[in-house]
Amino acid sequence: MPAIAVIGAQWGDEGKGKIIDLLAEKVNMVARFSGGNNAGHTVVNPHGEFRMHLVPSGIFYRHVTCIIGNGVVVDPAVLLEEIDQLKERGMAVDKLFVSDRAHLIMPYHILLDGLEEESRGGSAIGTTRKGIGPCYMDKAGRLGIRTGDLLQREPFLERLRSVLDYKNRILTRVYEAQPLSLEEIYDKYCRYGEQLAPFLRETDLMVEQALERGETVLLEGAQGTLLDIDFGTYPYVTSTSAMVGGACSGLGLSPVRIDRIYGVFKAYCTRVGSGPMPTELFDDTAELIRERAHEYGTTTGRPRRCGWFDAVVGRFSARINGFSGSCITRLDVLDVLPSLKICTGYRLNGETLTSPPSNSSLLARCEPLYEELPGWQSDTSGLRRFEDLPPQARSYVKRLEELTACPINIISVGPRREQTIVVREII
Ligand code: IMP
Repeated sequence: MPAIAVIGAQWGDEGKGKIIDLLAEKVNMVARFSGGNNAGHTVVNPHGEFRMHLVPSGIFYRHVTCIIGNGVVVDPAVLLEEIDQLKERGMAVDKLFVSDRAHLIMPYHILLDGLEEESRGGSAIGTTRKGIGPCYMDKAGRLGIRTGDLLQREPFLERLRSVLDYKNRILTRVYEAQPLSLEEIYDKYCRYGEQLAPFLRETDLMVEQALERGETVLLEGAQGTLLDIDFGTYPYVTSTSAMVGGACSGLGLSPVRIDRIYGVFKAYCTRVGSGPMPTELFDDTAELIRERAHEYGTTTGRPRRCGWFDAVVGRFSARINGFSGSCITRLDVLDVLPSLKICTGYRLNGETLTSPPSNSSLLARCEPLYEELPGWQSDTSGLRRFEDLPPQARSYVKRLEELTACPINIISVGPRREQTIVVREII
């Protein structure tokens, strides 16, 4: 059986957690491949409401093995706390495994994330300040420390000594901050190592074996395509590959194993942090959407920027990921609006663009070209069949399908599992 990927198609927070939670019932394994605790998934299911940052959303099913792959950066304090909270609420974690190749977020990463942001002044990225960027920088710079390293005490101490010596020079000389203590970090991370040891595995092998056994593996994306380090709105991006390609390098999975790729789109757009967002609204509609949908970051609590659905971005995401289909979430949020706009192109220097320019300063100058559709002004949250949606809602969804050139499989009309319209089965 296949590997099936679920990828954020906008700027993250598209509701991937709910979709994964929904699909996980029919799979054997859910594997996360990128990002870290910058991500935040809110999952509402019969066990209650859960806000998770690292543990894959498949954890709520007893039969599902959950993998945190090598491409994820792990803050051990956050992971261990999440595990404790799940256990306290009666969830089993004996099928949760973490790659021994996953890089660790260290205290200096978190410190440097904040200091670097402050030094950027007006051009700050608006990171989550969880140490994500500095950790991936160390991974690429060959200064990283991996989960598996914690189990080899002597080499770990030597490595930490040399890396920390360098980091302390940056902290004290560049940022005039206090140096960090080798002993404190070493002791703390050795304790983390002991607690994490039962979870550490060669997870690439586990994924491969599951596929060999004919099992279905769900590849859980984090963040969104427009935050991807290569194809996002650089430099206002996260530091890793949020696209489907990240699943191969972030899990040790061959691309030929990926059978289908589904994009998750919100029925409108949101973004947290800085960077261009052509359809952003600054009026009462933005406020209405924000309050109706509680558009505040799960990780940082920051209000999310809200705007109309951007089909230029949608088509771009569908193209570069090769989406087989899509899931449209939070359609119910739009229930009260008298009319809706969809951005179908951009106007820049007298030209019409149908694909986003690669340069962020150009994208920031793009003027969205809108198509206006009538709203439906009725409650869709209780509907379960596409045919039962008001005709205006069906037209809106059909238009998104046409403009993104991507067949819609699932429409979500509320946070709960059952608040879902399945147009075409995914699994
Ligand atoms: P970082 O990933 O913390 O370095 O933040 C880089 C950018 O990505 C910032 O604009 C963040 O707000 C954004 N970002 C990171 N993770 C998420 C997420 O899970 N959802 C939405 N935005 C995110």
